[in-house]
Amino acid sequence: MAFAYSGGVLCAEQVPLDEIARRFGTPCYVYSRAVIEGNFARFASVLAGRKSLIAYSVKANSNLAVLALMARLGAGFDIVSGGELARVLAAGGDPRKVVFSGVGKTQAEIEQALHAGILCLNLESEAELGRVSATAARLGVRAPVAFRVNPDVDAKTHPHISTGLKDNKFGIAYADAERIYRDAARHGSLELVGIGCHIGSQLTSVAPYIDAAARILALTERLERAGIGLSHIDLGGGFGIRYKDESPAPVGEFLNGALRVLAGRKETLIIDPGRSIVGEAGALLTRVEYLKPGDAKNFAVVDAAMNDLIRPALYGAWHEVRQVHEAESDAVAGVYDIVGPVCESADFLARERKLALRPGSLLAIMSAGAYGMVMSSNYNTRPRPAEVLVSGTGASLIRERETVDQLFAAERLVP
Ligand code: LLP
Repeated sequence: MAFAYSGGVLCAEQVPLDEIARRFGTPCYVYSRAVIEGNFARFASVLAGRKSLIAYSVKANSNLAVLALMARLGAGFDIVSGGELARVLAAGGDPRKVVFSGVGKTQAEIEQALHAGILCLNLESEAELGRVSATAARLGVRAPVAFRVNPDVDAKTHPHISTGLKDNKFGIAYADAERIYRDAARHGSLELVGIGCHIGSQLTSVAPYIDAAARILALTERLERAGIGLSHIDLGGGFGIRYKDESPAPVGEFLNGALRVLAGRKETLIIDPGRSIVGEAGALLTRVEYLKPGDAKNFAVVDAAMNDLIRPALYGAWHEVRQVHEAESDAVAGVYDIVGPVCESADFLARERKLALRPGSLLAIMSAGAYGMVMSSNYNTRPRPAEVLVSGTGASLIRERETVDQLFAAERLVP
């Protein structure tokens, strides 16, 4: 258990969170290295013996130290921007293990990817096919490409993070895929290396994932009969974690299901998990500034806000809130909404939680390692939090807290 109480104080591995707050201040993201490594190992052990690549989805948590950790574990990377590619390279990631997804790759990003020598560009439209083909021809290289195919299965997750249905902006339509592959095969500047899909995030049941795998396999076989052989099949990420009372199927069930579908196939299996590797590894540490009791509601106003962790405001996401000190003198027990200082009613981190608090109490917003810091903003000119990586008894600062000066350093007064 990476986050557990010891002597009445919540710890990340063996480091008490109150010590982290003292050393690095609040709000602050705290990650456990052991949890990240343990989660990666679960994927690796199920896939051992199968030609495979675990391409960590950088968008979930792109801190360089996290990426470097993944690179050392042998991970590849699923990226969606030139910025993420630059991060992967800066962290020592191997470009030949990088897959580049996303519907809107710019000309510059395509060139950057081709220069870096990545494993594959996942194309999402015919327009993009044309642009990549022309760019590769101009540079005198062959662009390794796959298509992200929309398998039109319902992932049964939150509509904002479901991506495999017909009316999503992602991928090419299943019905068009064979025609588009045949067309792409005629482009001398393209090398068709794979096929992929990603049906959504925070999946809890295995069935839609397996359905998608079966549909992608059927297409792969059709393409093979048409003389288009591929070297990998990318089934995406999306493996859910437990935030509240969800019971996501274990990773092994998703992967073993996919492995059964692909039994006997020679293609490398690529998966791109994000949340399931870093989500539960992280907590957002925050301090209560004020208690504001009321008739209808009791508010605990904390120093973290929606700009630091937007998931509750954006998706109504539920994150467990734990007191860093199990018990404190003068703490007032009650049911609290945990809100930040930002001027929006949507600025809440949690609602109606039973806690015993006083001004100065520390809280940990749990399972915030994925889509936390990466989605933060500077709204209300709030510097973004520090990030700390814990390993055993040690805690390292992996991103300094932003300063207000940095926030407007790029702005210019006009004469
Ligand atoms: N592969 C592709 C092509 C993706 O689009 C995504 C996530 C992933 C992999 C990784 O999915 P994961 O394993 O992390 O579920 N901000 C939202 C989640 C957006 C996910 C976008 N795509 C949230 O906070 O829940």
